[in-house]
Amino acid sequence: MFKKIAALFGGKPALVKGAGKLKEGQAKVVTFGDVLAGTATQVMFSRVDGVLRAMNAICPHEGILMNDGPVAPGGHIVCPMHLYEFDIKTGREKGTHCKNVKIYKVREDGNDAEVWI
Ligand code: FES
Repeated sequence: MFKKIAALFGGKPALVKGAGKLKEGQAKVVTFGDVLAGTATQVMFSRVDGVLRAMNAICPHEGILMNDGPVAPGGHIVCPMHLYEFDIKTGREKGTHCKNVKIYKVREDGNDAEVWI
């Protein structure tokens, strides 16, 4: 039932093998599509407060790929370029320096996960 509703309103989810294995404080970037062709979406998966999260891995400040973590205290990811911090739960930038990061709906399924990008 859930999959049918999601397909109607959020498109078809992408399966990410092993994403459910991330431990608290870990993050991992997964690329969907072709980076060289400019069609890629890079998504950072992480676990904060026991919940698997997914956010766009490209910093909205200057388009830098944010690293694979680790997750900073308070559930933030820190961009390696200018050290802006983004809340993994909401995508909000901690200060007022730039736009927020896009957050994606994600659902754990055992060791794997489904993400709607
Ligand atoms: S490019 Fe990420 S903080 Fe500037």
